[in-house]
Amino acid sequence: MNTPVNTSVNTKAPVTVLGLGLMGSALADALLTAGHRVTVWNRTPTKADALVARGAVRAGSVREALEASPLTLSCLLDYDTQRAVLDPAAGALHGRTLVSLTNGSPAQARETETWAHALGASYLDGGIMAIPSMIAGPGAFILYSGARDPFDAHRATLEVLAEAKYLGTDVGTAALYDLALLSSMDMMFAGFFHAVAMATSHKGTTASGFTELLVDWLTSMVHSLPAMAADIDSDDPPSYEQTLELVLAAARNMGDASREAGVRSDWFDREVTELEARIAAGHTMHSAPESVRLLKVAGS
Ligand SMILES: NC(=O)c1ccc[n+]([C@@H]2O[C@H](COP(=O)([O-])OP(=O)(O)OC[C@H]3O[C@@H](n4cnc5c(N)ncnc54)[C@H](OP(=O)(O)O)[C@@H]3O)[C@@H](O)[C@H]2O)c1
Repeated sequence: MNTPVNTSVNTKAPVTVLGLGLMGSALADALLTAGHRVTVWNRTPTKADALVARGAVRAGSVREALEASPLTLSCLLDYDTQRAVLDPAAGALHGRTLVSLTNGSPAQARETETWAHALGASYLDGGIMAIPSMIAGPGAFILYSGARDPFDAHRATLEVLAEAKYLGTDVGTAALYDLALLSSMDMMFAGFFHAVAMATSHKGTTASGFTELLVDWLTSMVHSLPAMAADIDSDDPPSYEQTLELVLAAARNMGDASREAGVRSDWFDREVTELEARIAAGHTMHSAPESVRLLKVAGS
């Protein structure tokens, strides 16, 4: 973020960024680098200093920020913050497009779309699938949902930030997919931390050494996911690779080994209880469709 930008050549579409935390700053920085005229606003104004030094325009108020560009990207802590920031200046959104890159739930996305449309604004909801250092680099993508027109109109600008994946007109989809993807990451990291806690109870084992094995293992397991997904989608009988008895025995062993290693075993203790109940109810086989079905609470 240190190289000054020659703002006289920043002639691409004007964009406003609200929120200059770690992510908002990365977004604004990428837009500046790509030659956009970038107006920024942040509750703590000093966080804009580095961007202003590179050519961004510091707005004195949220209203001034919204009025500066046809497109505003909001990247704030959460939706309550976003609404509190936007409400006093909401009239300035009329005829403009708001893209929320603030993380929130599908219900919050739907509520915000209704609010924005009532103001005469276009609205897109976005889910950033990247950390700040990945913005404008390989591997980053952002999910969008909501009306197609604003996405098409601003696509070139949005592609500066990361690959833009449009999921359709149901505005809640980006938030749903975003949080589903985050849930998989969260549980993967929890599994990683648990495995490392177990393995490093062995004298001489380092996290780095063990993680080489772990990456090989998880990589091979990731390749089994598309077949499981096809099984989940299919109306045919599922393919079975394990009996429930075998899965129960493995869960007991993982719980026992955790305790022997001085590591919490509550995840496996709960799994053992659930598996015992399923076996007692007469179930015999483990399958991907059944695992997903059991996660869905009644009525959903
Ligand atoms: N960082 C990531 O890896 C990442 C990845 C994907 C998505 N995101 C999403 O991007 C959004 C921003 O994340 P971030 O990493 O930039 O967070 P952050 O560094 O914690 O920044 C939070 C931003 O929200 C503002 N804010 C907080 N409370 C406020 C209030 N009461 N009134 C006005 N402004 C307020 C902060 O302003 P001040 O500077 O004045 O405190 C700052 O601009 C979040 O929704 C996050 O989930 C982040």
